[in-house]
Formats: sequence, C-alpha cells, structure tokens
Amino acid sequence: MKMDLKKLFGYEGKTVVITGAASGMSRSATEFLLELGAKVYAIDKNPIDLPVMKAYQADLSNKEEIDEVISDLPDKIDALFLCHGIAGFKGNELLVQKVNFYSQKYMTECLLERISDHGSVTFIASVGGFGWQSVYRKAVELIHLPTWEEAMKWYEDHPKEIESSYVFAKQCLLSYVTYKCMSKEFIDRKIRINAINPGDTTTGLTDDFNKSTSPTGDAEEGAQMIENIFLKSWNGYAAEPKDMGYPMVVVGSDICSYMSGQLIYIDYGLTSNWTSMALLQDSNKTIEEISHESQE
Ligand SMILES: NC(=O)c1ccc[n+]([C@@H]2O[C@H](COP(=O)([O-])OP(=O)(O)OC[C@H]3O[C@@H](n4cnc5c(N)ncnc54)[C@H](O)[C@@H]3O)[C@@H](O)[C@H]2O)c1
Repeated sequence: MKMDLKKLFGYEGKTVVITGAASGMSRSATEFLLELGAKVYAIDKNPIDLPVMKAYQADLSNKEEIDEVISDLPDKIDALFLCHGIAGFKGNELLVQKVNFYSQKYMTECLLERISDHGSVTFIASVGGFGWQSVYRKAVELIHLPTWEEAMKWYEDHPKEIESSYVFAKQCLLSYVTYKCMSKEFIDRKIRINAINPGDTTTGLTDDFNKSTSPTGDAEEGAQMIENIFLKSWNGYAAEPKDMGYPMVVVGSDICSYMSGQLIYIDYGLTSNWTSMALLQDSNKTIEEISHESQE
C-alpha cells in the first residue's frame, strides 16, 4: 500500500493556530506546518516573517490583547499549539506565570469551543518542569479558578510558589495537561491535549536562559552552569529548534490520533536518567543534586 505522507499528518487544508512563531521551536514548527499544507494563524509579540494565513503581533501576557486576537481567529480550529515563553529573572515572577502558563490556559479555554472534535492542543513545557508532581495540588487549585483576575490574585497571595518562576509555570503546564486530558470538555469531544518537554535548545531564549541561570546574571557563567546540568553527564550537545518543533507538529497531527495526556520529554533521555537515579536512591533530592551526581 502506498502511503500519502501529507494525508497521514492530516494538516492539509486544516486550520492551525500557533503562538511564539516568530522564533525558535515554534518558528520551525510553523515552517513544517506550512509545508504540510496547514492554514496557519500565527501569533507573537514580535513580527512573524513566514507566509502564514494571518500573523498577529500581540503581547500574550496582556488579557486585552489576547481577547482581541481571539475575537479575530477563525470559528473552527483543528490544532492549537501554545509555544510562547520567556526566561525567569528576579522581579518578573508574575510576568513569567502569565506568559508561560496562565495565558496558555486562558487561550486554550477561550478557544476550546472552536476546536474541532478529535482536534488537538499541544504545549511546549520544559525539562525545567521535571518534578511537577510536587506542586500538583497547588497547580490544580490555580487551574480551578474561573477568571483571569482570580488567578492574578492567587499569584499575589502565593509569592513563595512563584519564586522559582520558570519552573513553577512549566510545572503548572504539565499539571494542566495531566488534569485536563480526561475532563469532560476535552474527552467528550475527543480533543487531545499533550505537552513536549524540550531539553537545552539553542534559540532566541538562549542568552536570557544563560543570564537568568547565573546568580550574578553573567551569561558565560550561566552557559557553563546549563552545560553542567543538562549536557555534561552524557557528553551531550544543545538541540536545534527543529529537534523540538518537528516532533511537536507530529504530536498535534493525526499520526498521534490516540495520544493524549502525555508529557513528552525530548532530551536524549536525560530526565529518564534522573528518574532512574532518584528511584534507585530512594531520596527526596532536588533536580540539581541528582543532575550533579549524574556528572560524577
Ligand atoms: N530553548 C530552550 O532551551 C528551551 C528548553 C525548554 C523549553 N523551552 C520553551 O520552548 C518555548 C519556545 O521557546 P524558544 O526556546 O523557541 O525561544 P524563542 O525566544 O526563540 O521563542 C519564543 C517566542 O515566544 C515569543 N514570546 C515571548 N513572550 C511573548 C509574549 N508575551 N507574547 C507573545 N509572544 C511572546 C517570543 O517573541 C519568541 O518569538 C518556550 O515556551 C520555552 O520556555 C525552551
């Protein structure tokens, strides 16, 4: 039997909405989606120079700007990809929650009615969200709040939780996928929801990640620390944006038609190794401690 690859993916002529498409992984994913024949509506705070159906320039940390984009998006959407993200610095904890988690939950829920039966929602979380189980109850408390304003109040009341801002936001995203995959609004219409968890990838965020990882904001020191945590133990190398963007497109496609609720680590096995070490050691060690030991 001869297989038609475009048909297998199922994006041809389908409507796809994707955020963060100006750069990095999401840009790679958008290029792939276009190649597969999707009608792409792309959103970013920066200009998007790809031949999409429509490009929106909007700040997705801002509810009014999100609402404006949402009011203009098509009535029927087949696949939604939420990919925008920023690094966490001291002082931008709330912004990181809005960009890296809350806006993504908000957009998903505003657009859910328009997503077709058997459609898909796919997020980019991170290996940084590893250990999400430890905040699950807190995350679900936040997920349950019905309005943007109530969520902002929750963040205000929980400064400790959002202190490790990037990690907490990604953990919330992973908790969201786990919590929602069998919820009525998704499962009754067989809408799939998944997240990919990229390892260290060279993108537009690399410089900010380097600076935010160093205690003194020194990019070179931060780069060394990231290398030590994510690459040294396996003599590894940073991924390219397409190493994440392309598999994400596969996850949202008809090829993965029976896959939902999955948190897919794309990290060459690094976090599986951390899990193995933690299970064998029977300890409550932090990721930093475990990753440090894996280098010895
Ligand atoms: N690069 C890595 O090593 C790495 C690892 C794990 C996870 N991630 C995640 O991957 C996702 C994609 O990031 P990337 O690494 O490709 O970086 P990137 O900077 O190349 O792409 C992120 C995009 O999000 C957009 N964006 C940021 N804030 C926005 C806002 N308020 N409104 C609208 N758009 C906004 C940026 O303009 C940019 O185009 C992010 O969620 C990031 O947290 C990255």
